[in-house]
Amino acid sequence: MENKVRAIVEQFFSVEKIEGVKIFGNRVIVTLQNTEENQEVFELLKKSLLAIEGVEKVSIICTGEKKVQNLRPQTEKYNVRNVKKIIGVASGKGGVGKSTTAVNIALGLSRLGLKVAAFDADIYGPSLPTMLGYEGEKLATTDGETFEPFTSCGIESMSIGTLIDRNQPLIWRGSKACGAIEQLLTQTNWGNIDIMVIDMPPGTGDIQITLSQKLDFAGMVIVSTPQDIALIDAIKGVNMFKRVDVPILGIVENMSYYICEHCGHRADIFGHEGAKKTAEAMGESFLGEIPLHLSIRENADNGTPIVDSQPDSPYAEAYMKIAEKIKERLKL
Ligand SMILES: Nc1ncnc2c1ncn2[C@@H]1O[C@H](COP(=O)(O)OP(=O)(O)OP(=O)(O)O)[C@@H](O)[C@H]1O
Ligand SMILES: [Mg+2]
Repeated sequence: MENKVRAIVEQFFSVEKIEGVKIFGNRVIVTLQNTEENQEVFELLKKSLLAIEGVEKVSIICTGEKKVQNLRPQTEKYNVRNVKKIIGVASGKGGVGKSTTAVNIALGLSRLGLKVAAFDADIYGPSLPTMLGYEGEKLATTDGETFEPFTSCGIESMSIGTLIDRNQPLIWRGSKACGAIEQLLTQTNWGNIDIMVIDMPPGTGDIQITLSQKLDFAGMVIVSTPQDIALIDAIKGVNMFKRVDVPILGIVENMSYYICEHCGHRADIFGHEGAKKTAEAMGESFLGEIPLHLSIRENADNGTPIVDSQPDSPYAEAYMKIAEKIKERLKL
């Protein structure tokens, strides 16, 4: 069926315009880049797809800026139902451990008794499905309109990775991806969530700015490693979020130091306390430091994050301290 569906979509649109074709049971979701086509073309495509045996519902998502969207006032927010507070985890630079930190902070907040959701908005490298152990699982819908969140380690979760075709080149940029992110945020059946933790894309691009305008963030956590080069980008990140009125919860120093598993020797591989000093210099809070440790990496990559799988370890403790600070700051 998948091949048939794809072939029909390709009859209507050029391959560059097709960003994703996903099939969930009897439902087909076609994601298209900004198209000039009118509603009639979409209706024809829908009709053709519905003629395929097994297809009962077809949704077409346009990720481009549609004229009607341009008319919307910037202040119109995404309506994320059943979620009390939203925080983001961001970094100026990729690969500093943003996703690992986001997941473990989310689990830490859950251990503190809160109902938590983790949302993966990183279109460049969605990694929550791997880290929370639902990689490869299909997006579930009971009514064909709304999605059921994934649940693992006691928290709810959803990832933009479930809508991205990994074998397609990722040509989503800027606000184009925001349509899909909005759909997952607003059409997922979240269950009375106290706090949602969003793993943001790295850097300071259009998606970060758009999400900052469309969501009422209670605050942003900035993750950095201690090197100067990462810190310069972290400063850029802090300044960007402040410009769009997102409060900064504070800076986390990841891969802060290394303790040898065999002899206990501590080595400050990337230097140490750079993030703390930067936070102080900027008048922002320093939320804590996370050591570089093999079991943090192994557990993150195996879908068993350390706060859940080794709750009594000093590494889980480091994340718990950060979660406690966030809970206190947000009065949850
Ligand atoms: N404190 C840590 N100790 C050991 N390994 C870590 C630590 N933090 C992150 N890692 C590992 O480093 C790698 C990058 O981490 P992660 O994917 O969280 O970074 P990221 O900032 O989200 O990257 P990207 O920009 O690609 O999304 C992963 O393999 C992760 O397991
Ligand atoms: Mg990541």
